[in-house]
Amino acid sequence: MIILAPLHGFTDFIFRNVYARHFTGIDMAVSPFISLTHSSKVNPRKAKDVLPANNLSIPVIPQILGNQPDLFIQMCQFLDGWGYEEINWNLGCPVKSIANKKRGSGLLPHPELLRSILEQIVPEIKQKLSIKLRLGYYDKDEINRIIPVLNDFPLKNITIHPRIGIQMYEGEIIHQGLNDIINSINHEVIYNGDIVDLKSYNEAKLKYPSIKSWMIGRGIYYNPWLAEEIKCGLETDKTNQRIKLLDFFCDLYQELLKHKGETQTINKIKDLWQLFCFIFGNHQKVINQISHAVSLAEIEEITIRVIETVSGTKQNAVR
Ligand SMILES: Cc1cc2nc3c(=O)[nH]c(=O)nc-3n(C[C@H](O)[C@H](O)[C@H](O)COP(=O)(O)O)c2cc1C
Repeated sequence: MIILAPLHGFTDFIFRNVYARHFTGIDMAVSPFISLTHSSKVNPRKAKDVLPANNLSIPVIPQILGNQPDLFIQMCQFLDGWGYEEINWNLGCPVKSIANKKRGSGLLPHPELLRSILEQIVPEIKQKLSIKLRLGYYDKDEINRIIPVLNDFPLKNITIHPRIGIQMYEGEIIHQGLNDIINSINHEVIYNGDIVDLKSYNEAKLKYPSIKSWMIGRGIYYNPWLAEEIKCGLETDKTNQRIKLLDFFCDLYQELLKHKGETQTINKIKDLWQLFCFIFGNHQKVINQISHAVSLAEIEEITIRVIETVSGTKQNAVR
């Protein structure tokens, strides 16, 4: 199973729907986090990304970020009304301002607080709970005190991104001891991190033979064919794919325009190209061109031009 990772600001319902119209291989997605805020009632606009009507293509699991059991339960009740049977809890967010409040990966140095939150929410929510986490916030060994807590609750699965919070998204993935960690978890484990091509997927599969489900984020932007390549075990010849790629980008731009004004659409496209640029050789040049564009027409013109350079991501992708 291939799961699209939550990338806040990237993998929203607009991207997910357009992506599914042009590419195959993604079985489901975890939504970018919905942050809990103090309020007596859930504001449906906060959960717009998982509105069922917006999610008819790829099945989505709503993700919640926060550590207040009452607000967590309230959000789950709201999402139950929309028919969601699984909720994912974000224990991986590394952003300092969030982690400092013991949210996201900032909760990982506090196993007893984690236990207390789970004791309060698990009996009260109708959904199955899954968790996405890192190995720790300050230290990779924090996970050793977290696992006994996780094993005491009936969780659906645990997604592990084997970095620690202070690494953010860079630096080496921590492979050392990961098989032991996976084997000591009583729940299904999903692997996530730096799967960017067929080679890195095959290497991860060899390293972690017990893993059946893989979560991929940035790799889908670096190579939009990646999920389908993994499913069929073959790389796609990109030289014949220019029209498909162009259709995909045009569809994405039009869909963004439908939901946002032109200025917001242009800014959003510029953000997306921070990851899309890796599809193309000389990605720094591409990103410079896109970031200086002042109109959608100009962005479309640059897009057409750079797609002409596609001759196989293997040679061109620069990470
Ligand atoms: C821009 C960005 C936004 C992210 N937003 C979220 C998020 O909302 N929830 C979450 O659990 N992880 C989030 N992540 C982490 C990713 O889901 C994933 O764990 C990480 O990128 C590693 O996987 P990858 O190498 O396949 O991208 C984000 C990562 C990035 C780069």
